[in-house]
Amino acid sequence: MHGFSYKNASLFCEDVELATLADEYGTPLYVYSAATILDHYRRLDAALAGVEHEVAYAVKANSNLSVLRLLANEGAGFDIVSGGELFRVIKAGGDPAHCTFAGVGKTREEIVYALEQGIYSFNVESEEELRYLNQVAGELGMIAPTAVRVNPNVDAHTHKYISTGKSENKFGVDFESISGLYERAAAELPNIRLRGLQMHIGSQLTSIAPFIEAVEKVTPLVKHLKERHGIEFWSIGGGIGIIYKESLESGALDWWENQAEQDRPLTIDRYGKELVPRLKDLGLKILLEPGRLIVGNAGVLLTRCLYEKKGAAKTFKIVDAGMNDLIRPALYEGHHEIAPLKQPESDVRVAVDVVGPICESGDFFCQNRELPEIQAGDFIALMSAGAYGFAMASNYNSRPLPAEILVEGKTATVIRKRQTQDDLIAGEL
Ligand code: LLP
Repeated sequence: MHGFSYKNASLFCEDVELATLADEYGTPLYVYSAATILDHYRRLDAALAGVEHEVAYAVKANSNLSVLRLLANEGAGFDIVSGGELFRVIKAGGDPAHCTFAGVGKTREEIVYALEQGIYSFNVESEEELRYLNQVAGELGMIAPTAVRVNPNVDAHTHKYISTGKSENKFGVDFESISGLYERAAAELPNIRLRGLQMHIGSQLTSIAPFIEAVEKVTPLVKHLKERHGIEFWSIGGGIGIIYKESLESGALDWWENQAEQDRPLTIDRYGKELVPRLKDLGLKILLEPGRLIVGNAGVLLTRCLYEKKGAAKTFKIVDAGMNDLIRPALYEGHHEIAPLKQPESDVRVAVDVVGPICESGDFFCQNRELPEIQAGDFIALMSAGAYGFAMASNYNSRPLPAEILVEGKTATVIRKRQTQDDLIAGEL
């Protein structure tokens, strides 16, 4: 499910009218549905019920403290990629003992901080990093709980910038080199405790096949590592894709789960049904690292149309959100549905480009898309913007970051204030 629907021709998030929020707090404005976030988390957790597991939410997708707090209260673990993300998790009441620390370039400061906080595991991406981790842990007189990230060389069939499981990607250690690396670590690195194995083949996967391929390929290796080094967990990563197209009309996950088998390449249910039987007899704790699935369809970016510009070749609708607020269309050719906050009376559709105010031709939210009539002053919602939306926003063109709102039933709470112009220069000397 997701929490966005029209009531009396006005778009609501749960029981809150979005136009009211846009009027009150201004635009651009991110709005999240708490019920949707929790529903997605609980569905995934339930789908894995047949195997010992933990859902470690990938903080990078949306790291607002209130979002993290919501998930921490549900008992989620967290997958972090920086000291800053660990700091956020702790501030939000999350437990470092349920955090895994991924990423190819951890600094000394980050390693020290994570060791001191007692994280569950470092997910290490190279032999050099493993040796450095051993050295730093030794200096502190500590033991670093560790998993190495295996690159299974499986094609995730997703956008090239978010595919991570092929040998040409910078991530992980070659499948063939893992056993030898664990042997050397066991023999030579006394401050490393080999606790698990990690993998993640890419993001926004819309088919179950690559997940199955990766799990089947890596299973013999995992069994070997368990036998030989006593590893306890296997993180199978994140990457479950969401529906971006028609995410409003379709009610996202409900619609998705109800599709005929051949029309629903990947659902939470299918993910669980295919993977649990393959994992349940390994005697390992299975970690999942979903980001987008939990928050993607739980958020929208509200923006106001400032001008219409009829060019020789095209009609542009210029809005007050830009690629600095939501970069996915520019960076990954990402599709976000565009929904007017007031449902139009007429069925007329016009092909337009919705563009932002940034001085870049890549600053668009759609091109040549048939949309209902949008006029200057109208509010629209960019749907499915809860993941990698605000988290990737920047101050480019010296634009203050938008505010964020969390809706819970009838209640809307500002969970991040809009930046001011003073915020823009704070810290500059
Ligand atoms: N685990 C690891 C090691 C990852 O690198 C990622 C995402 C995840 C988990 C979570 O993946 P998810 O479940 O969200 O697909 N900014 C891009 C997506 C980048 C994903 C990076 N890594 C986008 O907007 O599409």
